[in-house]
Amino acid sequence: MTASQLLAWIAGALLLQLLLGGAWAYRRRREQPVFAPLPAMPAAQGGAWQGLRAFRVQARVDEDAARSQCSFYLVPLDAQPLPAFKPGQFLTFVLPLPDPARPGGEAGVTRCYSLSDTPDPAHYRVTIKRQPDGRVSRYFHEQVQPGQVLQLRAPAGHFHIDADGREPAVLVAGGIGITPMLSMLRWCLAHQPQRRLHLFYGLRNGAEHAFKAQLEQLAAAHPQLTLTVAYSRPAASDRLGTDYQHAGHVDLELLRRTLPHGRHRFFLCGPPALMASLVPALAAWGVPESDIHYEAFGPASLPRSAPAGGADAGAAPGLHAQLRFQRSGRSLSWDGSAANLLDFAEAHGITVDSGCRSGGCGSCETRLLEGSVHYPHRPDHDPAPGHCLLCVAQPATDLVLEA
Ligand code: FES
Repeated sequence: MTASQLLAWIAGALLLQLLLGGAWAYRRRREQPVFAPLPAMPAAQGGAWQGLRAFRVQARVDEDAARSQCSFYLVPLDAQPLPAFKPGQFLTFVLPLPDPARPGGEAGVTRCYSLSDTPDPAHYRVTIKRQPDGRVSRYFHEQVQPGQVLQLRAPAGHFHIDADGREPAVLVAGGIGITPMLSMLRWCLAHQPQRRLHLFYGLRNGAEHAFKAQLEQLAAAHPQLTLTVAYSRPAASDRLGTDYQHAGHVDLELLRRTLPHGRHRFFLCGPPALMASLVPALAAWGVPESDIHYEAFGPASLPRSAPAGGADAGAAPGLHAQLRFQRSGRSLSWDGSAANLLDFAEAHGITVDSGCRSGGCGSCETRLLEGSVHYPHRPDHDPAPGHCLLCVAQPATDLVLEA
């Protein structure tokens, strides 16, 4: 073989190698599986997520003898760790309930429920009381089963335990108001073991005594916790001194008799009657407003000596104003008799989405096209610029609303 023939062979071999290598690389590239992008984690904001996130109901547990209060354990479908929440905060659910206006159709209904356990990266828990005429609570009790998927907004709310723990905490729960208190209590016992805690739990009788065994075990295991249970209508089988410590309601007299002298931080959650009597009574007793923290069921319309903050300057109680609901095409006169713009809109047949009805969830947030509103009490949810929360707002001027 001549030198030129040898060179030609070598060049040919190199060329063949290059061609084979290119073909292999091309084939390998073509065979690469094409993965669909994983569903994006909800955008985190302050450890939470924005919008809705899908959760599966992992379990449900009845918490009282009457089976009127049921806990639902919720795990995220994306299996990612859950952000911590502040004990006392709530979850907002958007539920597909039958739409009464469209037979066979569904409408998203928003409701908020307090988290009833300490923060856990694996699950959340809410505990819901069945209300005989409560459409959503009946849906939970009668239809929501393990395996079901529900849509949730991130934990929210300004009602939560304080982190510094300097003063003893007095937790006052009425009925299902025990749910945020249990979350606060368990968190304090774990993270503020030096803090004195007084839990006052008011309910009718032993049949609806939720978390009874758990609370008694906590009180037995933690000497810094004093548990006072009050039955307003004890049954014949309920034992004073064993099942409950006080016959009657949780009122100021009971607090005065039970609490040691000194400064305390008060956290209250319960039905309107309890809140409407106890919050002003504590203020009259001399407890500074900054030491009274509360969450009422339903509209946040407790009497306070002064706005809790967030009221616009120039607010005029009893103001007469002209309101225009743009999308509904309605022009109406506000005479100050309605408690808020949501009540007013609904009373005139204008449908607006709503959830907590107390300024906490943002469901009723509506664009404010003209004018300004004022808030008698600072809402938990901060509306976006140019928007207002109808459930806690009153007009400060004539308004044009997008609803
Ligand atoms: S209904 Fe929840 S903020 Fe108005």
